[in-house]
Amino acid sequence: MEDYAVKLYQITKIYGKQKVIDKVSINVRTGDIYGLVGKNGAGKTTILKLISGLIYKTSGSMEILGEVTESGFNQARRRIGSLIDSPHLYPYFDGRENLEYYRIQKGLKDKNIVDETLELVGLNNVDKKKFNKYSLGMKQRLGIAQAIIGRPDLLILDEPINGLDPTGIVELRELLLKINRELGTTIIVSSHILNEMSLIASRYAFIHEGGLIEEVSKGELEEKCRKYIRLKVDNTEKTVVIFEKELGIQDYKVLNNDEIEIYQELNNLNLITKSLIDNDIEIKLVTEGAQTLEDYFIKLIGGDLDA
Ligand SMILES: Nc1ncnc2c1ncn2[C@@H]1O[C@H](COP(=O)(O)OP(=O)(O)OP(=O)(O)O)[C@@H](O)[C@H]1O
Ligand SMILES: [Mg+2]
Repeated sequence: MEDYAVKLYQITKIYGKQKVIDKVSINVRTGDIYGLVGKNGAGKTTILKLISGLIYKTSGSMEILGEVTESGFNQARRRIGSLIDSPHLYPYFDGRENLEYYRIQKGLKDKNIVDETLELVGLNNVDKKKFNKYSLGMKQRLGIAQAIIGRPDLLILDEPINGLDPTGIVELRELLLKINRELGTTIIVSSHILNEMSLIASRYAFIHEGGLIEEVSKGELEEKCRKYIRLKVDNTEKTVVIFEKELGIQDYKVLNNDEIEIYQELNNLNLITKSLIDNDIEIKLVTEGAQTLEDYFIKLIGGDLDA
């Protein structure tokens, strides 16, 4: 299998005079759950459609499952399952009938795949309930079942948690993790809620007004949003020496001439303040905090999420 499932390089999409995607480059590694995060109108759906072949790029280049040409993309797309608009499922068929229809349509020989897939998405016990009687969460899961019935190497989902209630969100999250883990499927999933995404994604692209702002791994994002203790002291230079020499604290940042943030030994606040006091350092203020993911995201796009 390829190291990268998808690579976009300087992809631009223009509709009429509007540049809706502007030189976006992203790299989705095989095995990733890749989160495309951006507010309404950022360009998430457009990017997913470009990858799935529902629309064509204006310029730039891409690599999809190792293929780099248009004819190659057609080959690659047989290995992609997607759920971008609402699923095309038959309202008067039950779950099994709907999947059986897609199994035949896709020419899949293995008849067991229908039951296996129903079980995987947790719809094996809903008997003969027709699709139009399904809850939104069930509809979403059957849509995903349809997208994975051919056991794709890459699964593309556009805002799958939209409209789901808290239980539905948890179920969907667990389903995506299970598909990723048990079937080894690389998943690209979009959302405008970074908090939700942070529970599953291994890598992220932040999209704003058609451009890529940042591509980060889960670890890098955690690093940016980690917890800290902020100390306001009368002498930062001396404080730093005590951190290093007495307390073994190396992970800190001097913010200005009287404030320091510490990122390690956060449970030893008493010990830290005691050492400083013993060394005649005046502590003016101690605050604890963490930048939340949403704070970070809002700062990143330079404004209000709902603006
Ligand atoms: N077929 C189209 N013709 C013209 N403009 C389009 C078309 N499809 C999308 N756009 C424009 O492209 C921009 C990005 O749209 P897109 O649907 O990709 O955003 P999104 O991030 O998916 O937003 P949302 O969170 O609302 O789904 C928007 O300004 C939209 O109006
Ligand atoms: Mg969209």
